Amino acid sequence: MSKTNRSQEIFKLAQQVIPGGVNSPVRAFRSVGGIPRIIERGEGAYLIDADNNRYLDFCSSWGPLIFGHCDPDIMSAIKEQTEKGISFGTSTEIEYELAEFIVHHVEHVDKIRFVSSGTEAVMSAIRVARGFTDRDLIVKFDGCYHGHCDHLLVKAGSGLATFGQPSSAGVPKNITADTVVLPLNDQKALTDFFNKQGDKIAAVIIEGIPANNGLLIQHQEYIQSLRKLTEKHGALLIFDEVITGFRIGMTGAAAYYGIIPDLVTYGKIVGGGMPVGAFGGRTDIMDVLSPLGPVYQAGTLSGNPVAMRAGLTTLKKLADGKIHIQLEKLNQRFVTRLLNHLQGCDVSIAGIASIFWIAFQRSLPLTASEIKSEGITHFNRIHESVLEKGIYLPPSGYEVCFISAAHTEKDLDNAADILGELIAKEINA
Ligand SMILES: Cc1ncc(COP(=O)(O)O)c(C=O)c1O
Repeated sequence: MSKTNRSQEIFKLAQQVIPGGVNSPVRAFRSVGGIPRIIERGEGAYLIDADNNRYLDFCSSWGPLIFGHCDPDIMSAIKEQTEKGISFGTSTEIEYELAEFIVHHVEHVDKIRFVSSGTEAVMSAIRVARGFTDRDLIVKFDGCYHGHCDHLLVKAGSGLATFGQPSSAGVPKNITADTVVLPLNDQKALTDFFNKQGDKIAAVIIEGIPANNGLLIQHQEYIQSLRKLTEKHGALLIFDEVITGFRIGMTGAAAYYGIIPDLVTYGKIVGGGMPVGAFGGRTDIMDVLSPLGPVYQAGTLSGNPVAMRAGLTTLKKLADGKIHIQLEKLNQRFVTRLLNHLQGCDVSIAGIASIFWIAFQRSLPLTASEIKSEGITHFNRIHESVLEKGIYLPPSGYEVCFISAAHTEKDLDNAADILGELIAKEINA
């Protein structure tokens, strides 16, 4: 057994002053049991905890760290900026540069605004959609998570699913009254709803690739039909690319599906590991924002120069597409090797770009309701022993894993062998 004394001590103290000892619920390890590791530092693909244990990191700070921890270019960009000042509350050249870079690389973004988190980006995009269309109704999908803003906290992915909650307390019914939840991958439910209420819908929001309740890669025809229906009924299509943005290539899941969304939301990679979110889209839609238009939206730290510098450095390193190709290859190699260990077991693995998710069931689910709770129980049972072997998986069976450019073939081969052995043992027990 590795030593976890310091982690235990610190977590105990934290629980006295922070609810549940955490600033985001899934970090508490409630469903997987075991000891939440208190992380002291990151080195490339590895996390090092307060007891000096090293873990190969598949959480990657929940997605932002596509270059792993302490990438030298990103770190020196941050250092350089901090020497000039960390926040001005004014316009800066660097925020323009990042905006211009994104607009230049992403065809469907004419204008973009920066905020401080993915939640804020989504919340603002929804307000813009309502302001632009002068309609109230929002459609979201069961299992898609779009941050913790009140009106989208319904059937919303891992955090709630992990704790067996369909929704959150503290959200008044009238706030979600204009939120309609449809199942994913259900063409009939979609078409029927549009036939009935299509002209009242302000926007449909969907995760670029639903990756917050397992990895539910939707069929292209379904997403394309969603695009057609929204267009026909004058509803906006918001692609929430907080996870997929700049991870599924530079143009995200929208390009993967061959569609042009009206609005797109970003987070995670766009800030290179610093707290950034962004939303953007067509000029006529974005120009409803204050000070040009009537939709109010603001932020003290929005466009923070340190975060913009980290984001721009990250995106520039990704822009030629080579890293995306390298990561996809690594992911495929890892998934293939892991599956080799699991022949004959009821386990499948969803993988796309540098994201993978292990489903402890024979076939991959396409909707939240197809995820088998017994599978999540298997995951929960192995999580601590996987940690013991030096592999950090996100502490929920509903969460996806990320591979970064700091992961080597050797790291991944070794992890596939360890995971393969532990999973097979669990399934065959
Ligand atoms: C698709 C998606 N949208 C929005 C959010 C919210 O982002 P944040 O946690 O930065 O508020 C997340 C967070 O995981 C997400 O995965």
